Amino acid sequence: MAPTPPELSLVTTTADSSALFSVRRLNRLAEALSCRTYLEIGVFKGETFLDVNVANRVGVDPEFSFAWSSHHGKDGIQLHQCPSDTFFGSIDPATTYDLIFVDGCIILSKLIAISCMHCVTVIPAR
Ligand SMILES: C[S@@+](CC[C@H](N)C(=O)[O-])C[C@H]1O[C@@H](n2cnc3c(N)ncnc32)[C@H](O)[C@@H]1O
Repeated sequence: MAPTPPELSLVTTTADSSALFSVRRLNRLAEALSCRTYLEIGVFKGETFLDVNVANRVGVDPEFSFAWSSHHGKDGIQLHQCPSDTFFGSIDPATTYDLIFVDGCIILSKLIAISCMHCVTVIPAR
């Protein structure tokens, strides 16, 4: 079994053990890294996105499967209904996010490019 990264083993959380694994994992990282900005590529029903405890959250999906417009613009949430290529083409290239969860259809070379340009920590798709 791979050893636990030391910086994460020092962190205690109050994460709900009934939450999705993705939510628990992301919230642990967000707390450990004091994340203020979060980007999720591929949001689907928002089951992960809506439970991530980061002040400013951006979600991108060409076809959200929930009432996304009722969340957009509230509680630090910005939602963009478009493919990730369109989203990245629309933002300032200097924009960075503390934590990015890539869980949509994306190729490895693009994941590497996104990682290098826009983020501090990447959680790749399952
Ligand atoms: C596995 S689901 C995401 C699940 C979600 N992250 C969660 O944890 O509940 C994959 C999603 O990726 C989206 N998707 C597919 N191609 C995409 C693209 N080019 N850019 C952004 N999202 C994409 C699909 O519409 C789908 O909703």
